[in-house]
Amino acid sequence: MHLLQNLSRRDGVLILIGASCVYILTTFLHRGFDSMPSIVINSGLPTYHTPAPILDLGFAKLPETGIIAHAPGWTLFRNLYMSNGTLFLLSSNFSDFPEIRMMTSTGLPAYNTPENIALREPTKQDMDFISPEEAEAHWGGHAQDGERNRIWTVEGNTMLFNDPSQFLDHYYHFVAELLVGARAFIYGAFNPTSRLSLAKDASTPELHPTFNPLPSVYEPPSFSRAIFIHAESYGWRDKPGFNSFVLRSAFPSLTIEVASDWADRVNATAPPKAIDKDAVQHSRANDDDNDSRRAWHFPIALLTDRSAAFRGESCGSRTQRTASEAWEYMVDQGGIDLVGTWWNNVREAVWRFAGVKKQVFHSRRRPDEVNDSANENLQMKLPIPENIVITYVSRQEVRRHLIPEDHDALVDALRNLVKRKKVEEGKDWELNIVRPEMFSKDGQIQLIAKSTILLGVHGNGLTHLVFMKPSQVSAVIEIFYPGGFAHDYEWTTRALGMRHFTVWNDTYFTRPNEPSIGYPEGFQGTSIPVHGETVAQLIEDRLEGRL
Ligand SMILES: *[C@@H]1O[C@H](CO)[C@@H](O)[C@H](O)[C@H]1NC(C)=O
Ligand SMILES: *[C@@H]1O[C@H](CO)[C@@H](O)[C@H](O)[C@H]1NC(C)=O
Ligand SMILES: *[C@@H]1O[C@H](CO)[C@@H](O)[C@H](O)[C@H]1NC(C)=O
Ligand SMILES: *[C@@H]1O[C@H](CO)[C@@H](O)[C@H](O)[C@H]1NC(C)=O
Ligand SMILES: *[C@@H]1O[C@H](CO)[C@@H](O)[C@H](O)[C@H]1NC(C)=O
Ligand SMILES: *[C@@H]1O[C@H](CO)[C@@H](O)[C@H](O)[C@H]1NC(C)=O
Repeated sequence: MHLLQNLSRRDGVLILIGASCVYILTTFLHRGFDSMPSIVINSGLPTYHTPAPILDLGFAKLPETGIIAHAPGWTLFRNLYMSNGTLFLLSSNFSDFPEIRMMTSTGLPAYNTPENIALREPTKQDMDFISPEEAEAHWGGHAQDGERNRIWTVEGNTMLFNDPSQFLDHYYHFVAELLVGARAFIYGAFNPTSRLSLAKDASTPELHPTFNPLPSVYEPPSFSRAIFIHAESYGWRDKPGFNSFVLRSAFPSLTIEVASDWADRVNATAPPKAIDKDAVQHSRANDDDNDSRRAWHFPIALLTDRSAAFRGESCGSRTQRTASEAWEYMVDQGGIDLVGTWWNNVREAVWRFAGVKKQVFHSRRRPDEVNDSANENLQMKLPIPENIVITYVSRQEVRRHLIPEDHDALVDALRNLVKRKKVEEGKDWELNIVRPEMFSKDGQIQLIAKSTILLGVHGNGLTHLVFMKPSQVSAVIEIFYPGGFAHDYEWTTRALGMRHFTVWNDTYFTRPNEPSIGYPEGFQGTSIPVHGETVAQLIEDRLEGRL
């Protein structure tokens, strides 16, 4: 029996509809952010009908590398190549490229010794320039024989993280530095308001099936993958598990590759091993080892490197925050505002995942409507909080912590404050005194999402500030051993448009009068003093708009 003869007309129509659906789906799935100008290369081959103009580079001149945006440690490339472990910048004129040491390093763990600093200076093995002629000789196919260029495009947009696990496996460094910095940089680089003016390249929304909410405000093109060049699977995961929680919930489509995956790509483009004499006799290609060379091509790649960021002025001399390089550069370019609008979609994605119930999200204002030069009262542009929630993250169970009596007195002072507000002014201020381990991940995010004030001793527990909802009075209050200060949470709070206060027992500081960095004896100890009444007064003044 012939199958076809048994098919009715109706079946035929159904098959056709089914086939069209498959076709439409697959073509949608294959369309990513098209970074290339729409040049059509005439290869002499038949042209295919495709919904998006696809630029076939198989027989084309190899496209040159371009820098879309660069700050120390943060570089967004167009057409970056990799072969045998070396990132290649393909160009006929290198004079306009940033210094290589400001883009990358050897990716070794960082220690503050002259030997280690020298070992982290990048070599030609890490990154190198290549001229179009050399690239053609290495990777160009013999078009006359129908051979395509020996370059494999890693489609979509790629994040290349060049850091070892030394800092990646900490919640603060992963989320509040790497992700915050990457978000600020990508958001700013593609923002139509930025002076980098890449608006014409921004992706247009397309029909594709998704359960993820579609942002109603500008959202930069999404990234397909993150590659941790020097870290293995557990090298980018923190013990409590927040790194993966945040990464997966905020970027559910992101694919992760780690060091051994990168090694695959390195090995696959490594030159062949020297062939032994006898074998050479029979070798077809003994006169031309160029023909076995290959490369990977990244149409859009964001390369980040911690050591290179520290070579920058902002990170190296002022903040010690790698993200500050990305952030300051994009603020200067007009790509991001000073009230953290650029972080909203990430925060809200994590909230939604964690089951934050009442999603009163940010005002749908476009970032360009914020007048950043009217800096002083910027936070007043944020919403008024619906409820006042004070959250004190206690560290009394872990190593660095308050003098036990001072902790008790602080708790009393906070309770009295909330009671007095209720009795005297009828105000319902909520107070939470918590150890994060008491809650599930969802619970921690739910609590922080409603917190107006986050209070705690300097430490990782304050990293959750990135998921606080910024409001006119939101603030982070960080207790240090008197004389001690570090920029971790201070810079991060400020970069997201909120206020930060440093408490030294019975005094406090805020920008522009924040102390300079200091790690006095006692900084890491278990006898950090704090005067509870001072903190309670600070909180009240802040929430009543007096500060
Ligand atoms: C390939 O990389 C190795 C180091 O991993 C290096 O020794 C070798 O010289 C490289 N080969 C070429 C052709 O660049
Ligand atoms: C390379 O670029 C620089 C800056 O754009 C320019 O001044 C120089 O003439 C160029 N050199 C060549 C060889 O084209
Ligand atoms: C890559 O090649 C090196 C050297 O030949 C080898 O030690 C390593 O196991 C290879 N890695 C992978 C992921 O294949
Ligand atoms: C191989 O490439 C080099 C450039 O790196 C070139 O000088 C050499 O002539 C090429 N060899 C062959 C046989 O094409
Ligand atoms: C921004 O604010 C500054 C200072 O208040 C003012 O001089 C400037 O005109 C404002 N710019 C815009 C575009 O509103
Ligand atoms: C902390 O401040 C209180 C109130 O001013 C003071 O009595 C106490 O001695 C201070 N503690 C330290 C260690 O300075």
